[in-house]
Amino acid sequence: MTAQDFIPKSYSNNPSQGQHSWSSPSNIALVKYWGKRAHQIPENPSVSFTLNYCKTITLVSYSKKVAHSEFSFEVYLDGELKDSFKPKIETFFKRIEAYLPFLKAYHFKIETKNTFPHSSGIASSASGMSALALCLMSIEQEFTSNTMETSFFYKKASFLARLGSGSACRSLEGDLVVWGEHKEIKGSSNLFGTKYPYTVHKNFKNYQDTILLVDKGEKQVSSTVGHNLMHNHPFANRRFEQAHDNLSKLISVFESGDLDAFIKIVESEALTLHAMMMTSMPYFILMKPNTLEIINRIWKYRAQNQSKICFTLDAGANVHVLYPESETKEVMTFITSELVAFCQNGHYISDQIGFGAEYLS
Ligand code: PMV
Repeated sequence: MTAQDFIPKSYSNNPSQGQHSWSSPSNIALVKYWGKRAHQIPENPSVSFTLNYCKTITLVSYSKKVAHSEFSFEVYLDGELKDSFKPKIETFFKRIEAYLPFLKAYHFKIETKNTFPHSSGIASSASGMSALALCLMSIEQEFTSNTMETSFFYKKASFLARLGSGSACRSLEGDLVVWGEHKEIKGSSNLFGTKYPYTVHKNFKNYQDTILLVDKGEKQVSSTVGHNLMHNHPFANRRFEQAHDNLSKLISVFESGDLDAFIKIVESEALTLHAMMMTSMPYFILMKPNTLEIINRIWKYRAQNQSKICFTLDAGANVHVLYPESETKEVMTFITSELVAFCQNGHYISDQIGFGAEYLS
């Protein structure tokens, strides 16, 4: 498929108003997307666990307007007008207008809320952009008199979400989603996320993710700035190859359920992402001392208890603690007795692998 395939030819319906609501989850990458080309095309393929409880719930109401010259919308977060969100949504609308040509013909009221605290340092862009893309796709579905096929609906919603925030395209489905072309993964695309198509061992069923909130502040470096630092980065090409290799290795790990191999790949990916930031120009250290404390304690606990606990990181200081469902009781005792002390205000979020977005009304 190409981007052209997402440009609608004509519509058979022309509703004057309506509303749609979707909930969409966050996701956590196992092989990281870091570095992009124009139009949010990733430099390397990535794969993520879709989360279950960290979600954005968005309601979009639309009504026909007279003048078609500009975008017209208002955004509310938790019921309060949020003008600070407008520039990001305006940029998003500009990027997707060619694919949703009705955007300037309507006024949109966007009401959104997150199930996780706004100031938690957890990126809401993946869940937020995917929920918004899905609401817009439900509107387009009405324009086609509900004739759009479900598989196309999800592909296009993921394609649009990607244009809002790259990793958002991996949030629509679950429980494992691939984004970016990979020679061994059938159907993988740079344009949208696709459900991981091969066997996944029962060891990964209900895999747990406890997110330790080490730093709840604003990101030190935005992802846009971070991705751009991969241009002319001295290690960029080797890193992109490594991501392909790690995804190849994960195919057999997912099949065999080899958790030791899984841990090696996932932790190495997290540290590589941070190593890329430390070796770019300008350079950044996104971990905090407590991030390192937590990592060291996870390694010690793993060695002493023959546990399969491991960590991954986003482009920030918070730690995602990943472990099989069978270890939940012991690991939660470890987290609450030892790791919570390193979290800001003792805050953490218990999540687990989930199955993607849901249509609400
Ligand atoms: O979707 P963006 O542009 O915010 O980039 C996200 C990048 C990472 O979260 C660091 C990695 C990933 O693959 O999700």
